[in-house]
Amino acid sequence: EKDILMGLPLNGKQILITAGPTYEAIDPVRFIGNHSSGKMGFEIAKAAASLGAEVTLITGPTNQTINHSLVKLIPIVSAEEMYTEVHKYFKTSDIAILSAAVADYRPKTVANRKIKKNEETFTIELTRTKDILKSLGAVKSDQFLVGFALETHNELDNALKKLKTKNLDLIVLNSLQDEGAGFGGSTNKVTFITSLGTIIENDLKSKAEVAQDLMKQILKQFHA
Ligand code: CTP
Ligand code: CA
Repeated sequence: EKDILMGLPLNGKQILITAGPTYEAIDPVRFIGNHSSGKMGFEIAKAAASLGAEVTLITGPTNQTINHSLVKLIPIVSAEEMYTEVHKYFKTSDIAILSAAVADYRPKTVANRKIKKNEETFTIELTRTKDILKSLGAVKSDQFLVGFALETHNELDNALKKLKTKNLDLIVLNSLQDEGAGFGGSTNKVTFITSLGTIIENDLKSKAEVAQDLMKQILKQFHA
């Protein structure tokens, strides 16, 4: 059997990838964020570029670096900035893979001066951010759209719901129940669910290998 990754099967294709966390400002010195390292998204960018794709990598604040002539790096900070940049590039993309850990809520107002401590308790009112992935599912034409699902319970059910409501072609289920999976580490254990409902379980692997498995799965569906 000829390996699907032989040669440059994505030569000339435009791939949009999101990675990392977003930071939502509270005041000039504070923010709400999460523990996403950006590693998974950067590995996907490397895997896609090594298959010949032209990659636009839109990333929140991370320590990751990438130096590849086919990867254009666009750093952003907040969910709103990520939304704007993603929509700039989506129309001309063939494939979009949204692996970023986007904040679901941001402070309703941002103080323009550092907030001084005062009372014993302090409440910040939050408001929902835009769901970037869902907004792409709503406007997509023939783009191949891939999302992630981070779950701790009812994993398959929740991931299937996200696949359907966000109009995805493929979802990558990241279960935080699995030892060695998820944030920070260099390994991950994921399950792929296709738009046809096919469930593909994978072993615990390095994030680089998971990225290659993901590109292989995308190629299978993309060329089907
Ligand atoms: N996502 C996004 N924009 C958001 C929130 C999530 O693009 N504002 C994307 C993520 O990049 C991921 C997918 O949606 O590809 C699922 O993210 P996840 O946090 O698992 O699901 P949510 O839809 O945010 O639902 P919840 O956090 O309540 O489980
Ligand atoms: Ca979320």
